[in-house]
Amino acid sequence: MLRESGSSGKSLVLKSGVASHPPADRVHFREAMSHFAAPVCLVTTDGPAGRRGVTVTSVCSVSDEPPTVLFCLNQTSLANTRFDQNGVFAVNLLASHNEPVARAFAGEGQLELEARFAAGRWTRLVTDAPVLMDALISFDCRVIDSRPVATHRVIVGEVLAIGEPTAGNSLLYRARRYHSL
Ligand SMILES: Cc1cc2nc3c(=O)[nH]c(=O)nc-3n(C[C@H](O)[C@H](O)[C@H](O)COP(=O)(O)O)c2cc1C
Repeated sequence: MLRESGSSGKSLVLKSGVASHPPADRVHFREAMSHFAAPVCLVTTDGPAGRRGVTVTSVCSVSDEPPTVLFCLNQTSLANTRFDQNGVFAVNLLASHNEPVARAFAGEGQLELEARFAAGRWTRLVTDAPVLMDALISFDCRVIDSRPVATHRVIVGEVLAIGEPTAGNSLLYRARRYHSL
């Protein structure tokens, strides 16, 4: 039996007989996840802690009232703490013409920070987070929650502003490679 605190503050009791079952194998899980066709996003931040950008597929809409999104960020990179420290981020939904940007911010070629940002053209909306000018769409957010789950932090943001859309094909990631749709 697993006890969990619900949003009401009351304790929910999940009648589960699997609480002591071990998790599935990590390699098997990664292989299974490779079947998902996921939109590729670039999450960025800037502020007192400095600039940072990371290519992710973990962006998810949470609510439209108020507009809220989340993404999951690996905790092993010290530079990733800048998202929490700055308290702001932008989600840039990438087009297939942004594939070089996706690769640079996924660490390909192990480029320095400045070289990664040189792969794109940037603007700002209401926060200091860098907004990619030719992304399909961008969301400018302030962090309202950040919590550790396993190896990652789940970072939740309230959307303060939305950029102008750009035409183009979507950049997807499936079976460990990029696709244009
Ligand atoms: C398609 C794709 C999706 C990714 N999704 C995530 C993600 O959701 N969260 C995350 O923390 N890292 C994700 N990564 C990994 C980071 O992009 C990458 O490890 C990191 O930016 C490179 O680290 P570095 O900046 O230390 O070189 C993804 C990578 C790729 C190629």
